[in-house]
Amino acid sequence: MQFIDLKAQYQALKPEIDANIQSVLNAAQFIGGPYVKELEEALAAFTGRKHCITCANGTDALQIAYMMTGVGAGDAVFCPDMTFISSTEPAKMFGAASIFCDILPDTYCLDPASLERQITAVLAEGIFTPKAVVAVDILGNPCDYDVIAPICEKYGLTLIEDAAQSFGAVYKGKRACSFGRIAITSFFPAKPLGCYGDGGAIFTDDEEEDALCRSLCVHGKGPGGKYDNIRVGINSRLDNLQAAILLPKLKALQERELDRRQTVAGRYNNAFAGKFVTPFVAEGCVSAWAQYALLAEGAAQRDKITAHLTEKGIPNMVYYPTPQHALPVFQNEPRYGEDFKNANDYCARTFSLPMHPYLTESEQDEVIRVVLEGL
Ligand SMILES: Cc1ncc(COP(=O)(O)O)c(C=O)c1O
Repeated sequence: MQFIDLKAQYQALKPEIDANIQSVLNAAQFIGGPYVKELEEALAAFTGRKHCITCANGTDALQIAYMMTGVGAGDAVFCPDMTFISSTEPAKMFGAASIFCDILPDTYCLDPASLERQITAVLAEGIFTPKAVVAVDILGNPCDYDVIAPICEKYGLTLIEDAAQSFGAVYKGKRACSFGRIAITSFFPAKPLGCYGDGGAIFTDDEEEDALCRSLCVHGKGPGGKYDNIRVGINSRLDNLQAAILLPKLKALQERELDRRQTVAGRYNNAFAGKFVTPFVAEGCVSAWAQYALLAEGAAQRDKITAHLTEKGIPNMVYYPTPQHALPVFQNEPRYGEDFKNANDYCARTFSLPMHPYLTESEQDEVIRVVLEGL
């Protein structure tokens, strides 16, 4: 059994993927090209955004979003304590402070009350200038944007949606990647929409932001092209080959994969209700189920169950064992008295089970049986 079965997905989509790869090889057009353009248009249409700019990976997408926002020395960027380091890494690279906020105890996403506490603490101290909020749709579950967006507006902060884990998710009728001034996603192979290597994308509704983003992705190119450099940028682009692979995968995600993820999650929820804390998806939301995470009673029970799963050959992971504020690299970030109670609790008790659209019912039953046996 695979944690995320990319081989099964390839077998299901093989004719389309193989044909697209062959056509890239025949055309020998590897950088840029027709599939990149077609994919950007398809991603913009699917998410309901005006513009999509593909790039080399989700981490670059975030770095570019920070550059578009103009984050620099002396600024503060707010981010949930429970995420992957990419969400906040660029803040440190640009000399800004990463200000962590606690997560909600049910969705595990950014806690708006903690966010507002941290913003007011930064303002009261007067050392850093609040600049941006990175809201992370953690495990595929969207943040509460109707509450977070007005907080960003109130304090004049740029909202960046980190939808690296949530491509395909829905919040009140709108797709992930459609929130904030800028949104990003990742096409890392294990993500809900993954390519066969690294890839990422940035989304915006603003034409000028689109032009700025495209310039930043190509060494700060100007109207005269890539040798007319008008600013410092980076080199970050999605290969034509990866776009060719992503197009049939996007179609499969729309046509059936998202639905199948809901079915697997529903079966798991039924089996584990009352025995663990099962994932909570708010009303009006659909998770992309990048991960299916349960909360055990405590760290000891979690470790016992994961050891049992491993012994019985059931793949399992812990996303994430350490909240950001406790990572060695962030030891000197200001905390303003925040205790990160929910993030600490979540990280101590969480474990994730195999979750993908090709997980058969008998595999799901096997996972359920072994988890319950390990209690
Ligand atoms: C929340 C989050 N943001 C950003 C990233 C970065 O994406 P990539 O691996 O494509 O650089 C990841 C990847 O795991 C992620 O989980």
